[in-house]
Amino acid sequence: MILIKDAKQILTLEGAAKKGARHTLDQDLTALTGHAILIEKNKIKWIGPQKEIPKTVFKKIKKEISAKNKVVMPAFTECHTHTVFAGERYTEFEMRNTGVSYQEIAARGGGILSSRKALAATSKADLLKLTQKRVDKFIQQGVATIEIKSGYGLDLENEIKSLEVVKKLKSANFVKTFLGAHAIPKEFGSAKEYLAYLSEFIYPEIKRKKLADRVDIFIEKGFFSVEESRSYLELGKKIGLDIVIHADQLSLSGGTELAVQLGALSADHIIQIQDKEIKNLAQSEVTGVLLPLADLYMKCAYPPARKLIDAGARVAVSTDFNPGSCPSQDVQMTGLLARLEMKMTLAEVIVAYTLGASYALKRQATEGSLEVGKSAQFIFLEDSYAGLFYSSTETCVTHRFFDETLEKLVK
Ligand code: NIG
Ligand code: FE
Repeated sequence: MILIKDAKQILTLEGAAKKGARHTLDQDLTALTGHAILIEKNKIKWIGPQKEIPKTVFKKIKKEISAKNKVVMPAFTECHTHTVFAGERYTEFEMRNTGVSYQEIAARGGGILSSRKALAATSKADLLKLTQKRVDKFIQQGVATIEIKSGYGLDLENEIKSLEVVKKLKSANFVKTFLGAHAIPKEFGSAKEYLAYLSEFIYPEIKRKKLADRVDIFIEKGFFSVEESRSYLELGKKIGLDIVIHADQLSLSGGTELAVQLGALSADHIIQIQDKEIKNLAQSEVTGVLLPLADLYMKCAYPPARKLIDAGARVAVSTDFNPGSCPSQDVQMTGLLARLEMKMTLAEVIVAYTLGASYALKRQATEGSLEVGKSAQFIFLEDSYAGLFYSSTETCVTHRFFDETLEKLVK
C-alpha cells in the first residue's frame, strides 16, 4: 500500500462527479486539507483526514510519498487527438494564413490527403517512434489518458497500421478511435462508395483484431453528410464500437443532432451549433468536446461554451493535436484559451479537462476524480491550482503519479 501524505490540498472533484460533470461550481472541486490518500494495486483504497488513517492499514503501508506544499488533483485526460501522423504541413499553414480556406486546401488535394501520403511512406516502426515521442510530451504535461484517432491512412493497410501503432504505445492509458471516414481518398468516386469500402473491408478487420474502441467521422460539407454517416455509424455500433462525431466545425451540418440521436459518447468541435442543438445536447448524455486551440489555429469562432454549460451540458476540453488544424499539444494553452476565449471559469476548465474528458471516453467510472475504487492517477501542483491555465509558458504541474510511480515532470 502507498500513502500520499502531507498534501497542502487535495482536489477530489467528488462534487463534480456527483453532478455528472454538469453545472460545475468552484466548490465542486471538493478541496480538502489535512487529508491523505491510500493506494493499493493502482486504485484509491481510502481518502480521509490524515490523522484518522485506519490503524489496521498502518503495517501494510510499503511506501510513503510526501506531497508537502503540493496540491493533489486528478491527472488530465486528452479526449480528442490525432497523434498518429507523419510529416508536417508547413506550406498549408502559410496558405491558410494568407486567406486560402481549409476546405479549399482540401479540395486541391492538400490537408488530410497530404498527411495521408506522408503516413503511407512511413514504416510502422518509424510511426511508432514518432507517436511515442508525442505521447511522452503529453505525459510531461500531466496527462494520464490519451485518445488517439487513426484517419491519415484511409485504406486498409494504413488505417490498420495506424491503429496497431496506438496499440503498442506505452506509459499512459490509450483509447483507440477509428477515423477512416476522415476524408475521401481520390480513388473513390463518392463518400458513399468509400464508406461502403470501410464497412466491408476495414470494420471486420478492426473487429477481428480488436483494434478500436470507437468510430469517428468528419461530418462536413465536402466530406461526409449526415445521411451517409448514419448507417455507417450504426454499423460501427453493431460491431461493438462507441460512436463519436466531428460535428458542426466549419458549418452547421447536423453532426451534433446525429450524435444525440445515435447516443454518441461525444460531439466534437460543435462551433456552429445554435440554440436548438445546444438544448438537445444539454438534455442528452452526449459530452460536448471543445477544442479551442484548433479554433485559434483555424482562426474561426469558438464554440458557445457558456451557453452549453449554462444549459446543463457536460463539456470536455482537449487539444485536437494534429498536423493540420492544431500542430500543438499544449495543454496549458488549451485551458488558457478555454478561460480567455470561451469564458469558462477555472473550475469548469479543470473539470472539463479531467472528469468531463473521462465521460467523453466512457472512463468516468474509473477515472476523472479521486474517489475510493477509482484509478490512482493524479498530478501534483506547486502551491495552488490557481496557477493552472494561467501562463502559456509556465505550468504549476510538477509531478505525475501513474502505475505506482511518481514521476517528476520537466519544467
Ligand atoms: O479535428 N476536422 C477534421 N479533422 C481535424 C483536422 C485534421 C487535419 O487537418 O489533419 C480536426 O480539426
Ligand atoms: Fe479532430
